[in-house]
Amino acid sequence: MTNSAALRVTWPVVTALATVWLPLAAAGPAKTLIAHRGASGQAPEHSRAAYELAMAQGADFVEQDLAVTKDGVLICLHDDTLERTSNVAEVFPDRFTREAIIRQPGRHWLANDFTVDELRRLDTGRWFGTRFAGQRIVTFQEAIDLVRSKPGTGLYPELKSPPLYTGRGVDMVGLFVAQVKKNALDAPASLKTTPMIVQSFDEPTVRRLAQELPSVPRVLLLGQFESGGMTQARLRDIRTFADGIGPEKRLIAAQPDVVANAHAAGLTVTAWTFAAKSLEGHASVRSEMAHFLDDLGIDALFTNDPDQFPR
Ligand code: G3P
Ligand code: CA
Repeated sequence: MTNSAALRVTWPVVTALATVWLPLAAAGPAKTLIAHRGASGQAPEHSRAAYELAMAQGADFVEQDLAVTKDGVLICLHDDTLERTSNVAEVFPDRFTREAIIRQPGRHWLANDFTVDELRRLDTGRWFGTRFAGQRIVTFQEAIDLVRSKPGTGLYPELKSPPLYTGRGVDMVGLFVAQVKKNALDAPASLKTTPMIVQSFDEPTVRRLAQELPSVPRVLLLGQFESGGMTQARLRDIRTFADGIGPEKRLIAAQPDVVANAHAAGLTVTAWTFAAKSLEGHASVRSEMAHFLDDLGIDALFTNDPDQFPR
């Protein structure tokens, strides 16, 4: 075959490939959708219903905020206390804490004061809507088993309040590491089929996880930047123990160059939290997410509304 004949054969192939490739290249790297407490805009947060809906809506990851029961079981719960998202005050009226651990006014029922069997008696769905009545607390193990049933979907656990547990003589990080290893979630084969990224606001926790679970990617959550903003030196320091930062979205809007600076330091940027019920200056949660992903260049986000994620 002459060179010109080769060209005649090759160009249609090149054209066909370009038809597929160029739009993909223009779209840039795939962005990641994390279902915040499950599909928590449409089902009670951290319920099985919210997790299943998130998976059905195509979430890349399902988030689990973690707490520890009195008998050392990791459960999926955002608050340290139970009263906002369950009927604990009805079922255990006298079991509120007498300790001054929680600063908000009123009575508080600490998850760490109850065994997992006691917590299974609580209704964790009715507060959100009567059609969710009968939802029960989800243990981390149950969440692992559920998410693993759909290969390709990942776990995104957050270690909430490790210092609270340390103050009560409970090694939350140790319990988490043991459960990850028991399930071999840190093994390369598992990470391939069930990816996992671990997150915490507590920097010593993330630093410890870097030592004890080095194969599992880690995100340091940030509720605020240091006065003067996030510096490149600080980002390089974070990179020594974490793979990404997780800033509250308004921090990124206030300092948009943090995204490029984080990328330059080798860190991903994952913003939180995008919710149709708490829109700020955008026509829709979909357009708000698109702005942060496409205009500001973040890599991933947490949303209560996975079905609105702009693919
Ligand atoms: O973990 C990311 C985001 O969920 C942090 O906020 O309070 O909802 O856990 P919070
Ligand atoms: Ca969280």
